[in-house]
Amino acid sequence: MTDIYPVKPAVAEKAHITEPQYFEMYKRSVEDNEAFWAEQGKRIDWIKPYSKIKDVSFQKDDLHIRWYYDGTLNVCANCVDRHLPEKANDTAIIWEGDDPNVSQHISYQALFDNVCRFANVLKARGIQKGDRVTLYMPMIPEAAYAMLACARIGAIHSVVFGGFSAEALAGRIIDCKSKLVITADFSNRGGKQIPLKQNVDAASAIKGVSDYLESVLVIKNSDTSVAWNDAQDYWYHEILETVDTDCPAVEMDAEDPLFILYTSGSTGKPKGVLHTSGGYIVYASMTHQYVFDYHPGDIYWCTADVGWVTGHSYIVYGPLANGATTLMFEGVPNYPDHSRFWQICDKHKVQTCYTAPTAIRALMREGDEPVKSTSRETLSLLGSVGEPINPEAWHWYYEVVGDSHCPIVDTWWQTETGGILISPLPGATPLKPGSATRPLFGIQLALVDSDGNELQGEADGNLIIKDSWPGQMRTVYGDHQRFIDTYFSAFDGVYTTGDGARRDKDDYYWITGRVDDVLNISGHRMGTAEVESALVAHHDVAEAAVVGYPHDIKGQGIYVFVTLNVGVEASDALEKELVQWVRKEIGPIASPDLIQWAPGLPKTRSGKIMRRILRKIAENDFENLGDTSTLAEPAVVDDLIANRKNR
Ligand code: WT7
Repeated sequence: MTDIYPVKPAVAEKAHITEPQYFEMYKRSVEDNEAFWAEQGKRIDWIKPYSKIKDVSFQKDDLHIRWYYDGTLNVCANCVDRHLPEKANDTAIIWEGDDPNVSQHISYQALFDNVCRFANVLKARGIQKGDRVTLYMPMIPEAAYAMLACARIGAIHSVVFGGFSAEALAGRIIDCKSKLVITADFSNRGGKQIPLKQNVDAASAIKGVSDYLESVLVIKNSDTSVAWNDAQDYWYHEILETVDTDCPAVEMDAEDPLFILYTSGSTGKPKGVLHTSGGYIVYASMTHQYVFDYHPGDIYWCTADVGWVTGHSYIVYGPLANGATTLMFEGVPNYPDHSRFWQICDKHKVQTCYTAPTAIRALMREGDEPVKSTSRETLSLLGSVGEPINPEAWHWYYEVVGDSHCPIVDTWWQTETGGILISPLPGATPLKPGSATRPLFGIQLALVDSDGNELQGEADGNLIIKDSWPGQMRTVYGDHQRFIDTYFSAFDGVYTTGDGARRDKDDYYWITGRVDDVLNISGHRMGTAEVESALVAHHDVAEAAVVGYPHDIKGQGIYVFVTLNVGVEASDALEKELVQWVRKEIGPIASPDLIQWAPGLPKTRSGKIMRRILRKIAENDFENLGDTSTLAEPAVVDDLIANRKNR
C-alpha cells in the first residue's frame, strides 16, 4: 500500500503550475534547455540584457559553468529598488523578535532606505567592489540589510552562522581574507544573550586574522555593554549618522561573485562555496515562486537562520526578488513555550511555513496541545528541508500542524546547488510522505552505481546531476581544483551530489542520505574529519574516529571513539572536557553526543581506520559488521562492542 496524497483541486486551481503543466514545462526545460532558461531569465531586471545563456562543461579537464554571461545586473536592485514603483508601502520584511512582544514591519521603501545607508556605512569603512565581508549576525533585519548592502556595492558576503565558535569564525575570515566583520553585541535566543561581539574579539586574537581584518562593525542589539577596541571596533549606529541615503547600485557582471558560504565536506576544512549573481538570483526567484506557489500578498515564513544557505535563498534573495513579504524570526521554537511557531503564524497571518524535520520532531515530542491551542487558519502550505523527513514526522506535520489541508513540499537541495532541485509543486505533485518526489525544471537527475553506470527504472544508487542549472555553485573560493575533485571526479562528466537516493516505480526520488563521511546533524552538515581534527588537537587525545548514529530528534547524532595518550586516565570529567573542547573549536552543533574510550581503533593492515565497522557499532548493529578479515587486530572490535555506549 502506498501512502499517497493527491493534489487537492482547490490548491491546483490557484497554482502557478498544475500537473500537466509540470510535465510539459519539464520536458521543454530539458529538450530545449537554453530556451527555457532564456525565458526564465526575464524574471530579473538586467542593466545590460544577456544574449548568451549558457556555457557549461562538466568535464574535469575543462570544467566551467557560466550563465547569462554577457548580461549585467545588480542583485540588490532586483530585490529592493525595482519593487518601489508598485510596492513602496508593502511589507518586505516582518521581523519577529525573540521577545514575543517585539515585532516590526519593514516596507520596501524602508528596506531601500536602510540598505542604501548600510551600503554607505560599508563604503565609509573602505569596502569596495570585490572585497569580502564576513557577517556574524543574529536574526535581525540588519543581517538582511548587510547582505543586500554588500550586493549593492559588489562586495562579496560570507555569512558565518552565529552558533559557530571563535575558532571556526577565524578560519573563515582568514580563508577569504575578509577586511571587515559585521556583528552585533549580542544575539537574543530563547531569552538568553549570546555574546557575538565577544566571540569576534576572540576570533580577532587568533593567529592570522589580523593579517586581513581591519575593522569590526557592531550593531547594538542590547543594553548590555561590551569590551571595546578603539583601533578596530565601530558602532554601526554612529557611522550611520555620518552617511547619506543615496547609494547607487553598482552594475555587476552576471558571473561576478555574490557570496561565499562555508560548508563541511568529507575531508579537510570547510569549503567556501561561491555563488555568482545572475544565475543565482534567477534560480532563487523561480524556485521560490513555484515551489512555494507564491502569490502577491502571501505572508511567507522560512524558519532557517541566515547563516545557512536556506536563509540566503529563501529568507532573503528568493522572496525579495519576487517582491514577497518574508518573515524573519530572531528566536527559537520553544520560547517562551512550545506554541511559539504557531503563535507566530497566527500573529502574522502566515500562509507558508518552511522549516526542518528536526524542529518538527522536537515539537512533535511535546504533543498536540501546543499546536491545537493556536488557530493556524491562514496556513496553506508547509515546507521541509535539510534531511529526509521521516513519515511519522511528516504525518504529524500534515495532520496536526496543517489540519490535513496544507500540502507539504519536501525540498531537497544543498549549499552547492543554490536553490531547491527536487521538490513537489503544491498544485502539480501528488505527495508521498518521505519522498522529495520529482526534479524541478532543467534538473536532470540520474542514479549511478559505484562504477558510474547509469541505473534505469526503479533503482537505488548515487544521486548525480547530468547538466548545470543557473543556481549552481561556480567554484570553491580560492581552490578551483578542490571544486573539481569534490564534485566532478567520482563520476565522469556529471555533478556528484554526495547523496544516495532511490527511484520508485512512479519516478519519485527518495533521498537515503549521504554516501560520504558527512554527517547531517539537525539538518546541518558536519564533516567527520572536522570533528576528528578538533579532537586530536586536544593534548590528551591520541586518535579519534567520528561516525553518525540514528538520533530521535537530530536525525543523526555524533558518536566519537577516542584513544587517549599513554598515561592519560579516562574519566567523566575528561569526557565533559572533550565535549566542551569541540564546542569551542567548532561550535555547539558539533557537540559529541556519545564518547566511547577506545583502547584501539579497527584498522586495515595499511593503517586505514575502518569506519564502516565503527558505524555499525554506533548503530548497535553488531550482526552486520561485514568483512573483518582485513583487520590488523580483530580483538579491537570485540572490545569496542563490549563497551558500546548506551543512548
Ligand atoms: C544535504 C545538504 C539545502 C538546505 C539545507 C542543507 C541533505 C537537504 C534534504 C531533503 C533529504 C536532504 C542532503 C544534502 N538534505 N534537504 N529534503 N531530504 N535530505 O544544506 O548543509 O548544504 O546540506 O542535506 O544530504 O546533501 P546543506
